[in-house]
Amino acid sequence: MTGEGTFNALVLDQTDDKVTASIKRLDEAALPDGDVTVDIAYSTLNYKDGMVLGGIGRLVRDYPHVPGIDFAGVVSSSDSPDYSVGDPVVLTGWRVGEIHWGGYAQKARVQSQWLTPLPAGLTAQHAMALGTAGFTAMLAVMALEHAGLTPDQGQVLVTGANGGVGGVAVSILAKLGYDVAASTGRPEHSDHLRALGASEIIDRAELATVPDRPMLKERWAGAVDAVGGATLSSIIAQLKYGGSVAACGLAGGSKLDSTNIPFLLRGVNLLGIDSVMCPADRRMEAWARLAREVPRENLESLTEIVPLAALPELGPKILKGEIRGRIVVDVNR
Ligand SMILES: NC(=O)c1ccc[n+]([C@@H]2O[C@H](COP(=O)([O-])OP(=O)(O)OC[C@H]3O[C@@H](n4cnc5c(N)ncnc54)[C@H](OP(=O)(O)O)[C@@H]3O)[C@@H](O)[C@H]2O)c1
Repeated sequence: MTGEGTFNALVLDQTDDKVTASIKRLDEAALPDGDVTVDIAYSTLNYKDGMVLGGIGRLVRDYPHVPGIDFAGVVSSSDSPDYSVGDPVVLTGWRVGEIHWGGYAQKARVQSQWLTPLPAGLTAQHAMALGTAGFTAMLAVMALEHAGLTPDQGQVLVTGANGGVGGVAVSILAKLGYDVAASTGRPEHSDHLRALGASEIIDRAELATVPDRPMLKERWAGAVDAVGGATLSSIIAQLKYGGSVAACGLAGGSKLDSTNIPFLLRGVNLLGIDSVMCPADRRMEAWARLAREVPRENLESLTEIVPLAALPELGPKILKGEIRGRIVVDVNR
């Protein structure tokens, strides 16, 4: 901390349609309304943070703005009966870092219902090594299980495997005993994907064209898709009878070009995954499972820790798919 009641934050300002980032010292009085104040330990860099840092997609309504869609830390003051000073907490979603001030700061003030108690066994650093990406990967796995997926049904595909959602999804599925195929455009990191638990590496080009037929050879019992676009079209056409794909992301596009034939003839399922407005009970379940089901050594191998000052340079890189695994932001460095 830099002085009584003051703290460091990465602040975005907008001038002439251009968004610029700088580290500023703010007074606690500048924090938005909320019933809980948190001393933040770590935040992360997600794809959506890259969009906010670049002023893309009109995600932010008002400037100056503090980005950062997730954080972990300790409650420093609370008017909520649900949280006491000293409680370790994690926050993802609820449009924090978009329409509300976010985690790229040493302090945040938020609504208590946006917080989740940090589950036993997870440190703040591990929680942010997972972050929104890991939380989303777990929601995807839970959705696939809910749709009936079990390890004996065959291979499960993860796309964008060298990204945050993809890497954690590979790790969770492998730990649960699934045979995981990892699709990537960066085969140079194949050894890393195998270490996370992938049994097969697929070149993402194999999935990158919209199929010329409604159905292709049955291949995947299930899939976690962080890429979208033609990749999702290809997966739907290749799902085995009764199989499901959890649609998590749009790193490769948002347009879905498909027919309903695989749904009618193979009974396949397209499962939507939203981490932002996910209800509290599912959040608690997902974080509890993340604490149990992601091996710590995998998290460490997925993670690079950077200071706040590194974010303006890293933002454009995540949008170009140039970040491997997870970037954890030490806001106190
Ligand atoms: N639904 C939700 O609530 C939710 C939550 C979090 C994230 N998301 C979305 O999920 C996606 C992944 O997020 P993330 O944080 O994991 O981002 P990330 O770390 O940048 O991972 C995305 C990965 O997708 C692949 N990729 C990038 N550009 C591509 C392209 N043009 N064509 C095909 N593949 C491409 C790359 O993997 P390879 O190098 O392995 O090919 C990249 O590492 C994003 O679209 C994000 O917005 C959604």
